[in-house]
Amino acid sequence: MNETPIRHSPAPQHMPGTAGAGIGVLLHRPRLYDFFVELALLGRAPSFREQLLGLAALRPGEVVLDIGCGTGSLALLAKEATGASGIVCGVDASAEMIAWARQKAERAGAEVDFQRAPAQALPFPDGRFDVAFSTLMLHHLPKKARARLAAEARRVMRPGGRVLVVDFAAASPRKGLMRHLRHRHGNVALPEILALLEEAGLDVVARGAVGIKGVHYALARVPAVS
Ligand SMILES: C[S@@+](CC[C@H](N)C(=O)[O-])C[C@H]1O[C@@H](n2cnc3c(N)ncnc32)[C@H](O)[C@@H]1O
Repeated sequence: MNETPIRHSPAPQHMPGTAGAGIGVLLHRPRLYDFFVELALLGRAPSFREQLLGLAALRPGEVVLDIGCGTGSLALLAKEATGASGIVCGVDASAEMIAWARQKAERAGAEVDFQRAPAQALPFPDGRFDVAFSTLMLHHLPKKARARLAAEARRVMRPGGRVLVVDFAAASPRKGLMRHLRHRHGNVALPEILALLEEAGLDVVARGAVGIKGVHYALARVPAVS
């Protein structure tokens, strides 16, 4: 039985790069998702996102990718933080989330490149980005696909680039609205996140809680070329 008001559904299995492991679970109700996030975070969603940008230490002019960007809220803020010379892209495998993110960008007059694509096969060349985010999306992926996301994030990063992964890393609250934001794949324990990043060739430089129950982050760097 699906108890959650946010409809989850398995995605079509024919997206590139998803053979074998499957694509994960996509969301299809962007307006409801935005409403729910605001409600579940009791109005703290904007400050939560600001905190994430701060953890990644975004700078003007940087090239930023949001993997599993959902409705694009973080990508839009990243555009503000990186300024006119910054380039921000967001990918999500859900057509509905991407359509809504594009509408939000248009309304805000913000130039953000939102594309429908799977995290397992990012439509970007090697070494394109300074910063990549994966927020609250890793738990949507089947286990095998999580390693693929980490490898793809590593591939598209420049030497010295930063990757910030944020997810439900600890046991979930059984009560309250936050439980509805969690998909049935459940949480991804912090040691699993750290191992995924390290196995992809990234150096974990910071980790910790983000002030929302059960949600943790790991910040990793791409080794600089010597
Ligand atoms: C809980 S939402 C998080 C959205 C956003 N990052 C945030 O922090 O609000 C997870 C998102 O991951 C997307 N997703 C799931 N599997 C995916 C995949 N394989 N590739 C890209 N996006 C995926 C879903 O469609 C959904 O929009």
